[in-house]
Amino acid sequence: SSQEFEKLPKETCWESFDLYKFQGFWYPGFILSGVLGAQSHFEARSDDVILASFPKTGTTWLKALCSCILQEHDHDHDDQLSLKNPHALVRTLEYDLFKDDVTLPDIDLSTMPSPRLFHTHMAYSHLPDSVLKNPDCKIVYITRNPKDVFVSNWHFSNSDSWRTSPEPYPMEKVFDEVCKGHQFYGPFFDHVLEFWFESLKMPEKILFLKYEEMKRDPKGELKKLAAFLGRPFSNEEQVEKVLWRSSFDRLKNLEVNKNGVVFDMELSNKLFFRRGIVGDWKNYFTDEMKKKLDEISCMKLEGSGLDF
Ligand code: A3P
Repeated sequence: SSQEFEKLPKETCWESFDLYKFQGFWYPGFILSGVLGAQSHFEARSDDVILASFPKTGTTWLKALCSCILQEHDHDHDDQLSLKNPHALVRTLEYDLFKDDVTLPDIDLSTMPSPRLFHTHMAYSHLPDSVLKNPDCKIVYITRNPKDVFVSNWHFSNSDSWRTSPEPYPMEKVFDEVCKGHQFYGPFFDHVLEFWFESLKMPEKILFLKYEEMKRDPKGELKKLAAFLGRPFSNEEQVEKVLWRSSFDRLKNLEVNKNGVVFDMELSNKLFFRRGIVGDWKNYFTDEMKKKLDEISCMKLEGSGLDF
């Protein structure tokens, strides 16, 4: 219960969300209870694939691509993306499946056909033991440059589904929160670095992707992803098909994504498709903001071999 979280360090973000610091990372109570629920109850299979990401780093794209890749060889299925939002196809452990310490009743994970695809935003060190200890259960992590993540997240936070005020959150205030790591699943850099170092140690278990690289060389990155999932493409046509089916331009304009909602989350599907470009931060950041986030980035990433 959130009462037991009251002993944890607490901060507020987006004016109204209480965040609790659990073993180094900030979670709102309803998500933290889902993390703990997943830790206690999720039983990974060897052929499960876990997609992992910090919010707003390309989760929707990765979900679309991976469900396409895994379904490409399954001729009984039509293109599921035309009917369902990627978030309905690949569900998130800690708020979709293990909310409030119980598995949601609408899905029986034990009868889900293999290979099962799941997603999580939780920190690497918080993943259920059954995922961490099974060398065959694969993880794909996607990340993105922190300035675009900030802008994407700020827009997302202003979405009216949970806001009462029509005014956007003051950007400077949210920026200060983010610089302190006070955001859902923050701090960003700690999140990225955990997955980064683990991917260096276990490249067969964890594939580390960057949004910008996928934009720059979509075919190359997609082939890498498919090979990692044990489903290498046999021809270029397949590569093109998966890329097109998962593309921003296509998904954004599908009926299901224009008017549908992500069940149970009270979020419109359209919120997940904003601009889908690299460098939109330049339209929002002041020189001061750029300097500050670059400084934090340099300091946190120093010596890691990772940069943005
Ligand atoms: P912007 O807000 O910069 O446009 P997440 O999926 O992790 O919530 O991240 C959302 C970001 O990914 C948004 O970025 C969104 O527009 C972008 N996005 C969604 N679907 C995409 C796709 N198929 N290809 C590329 N980018 C996509």
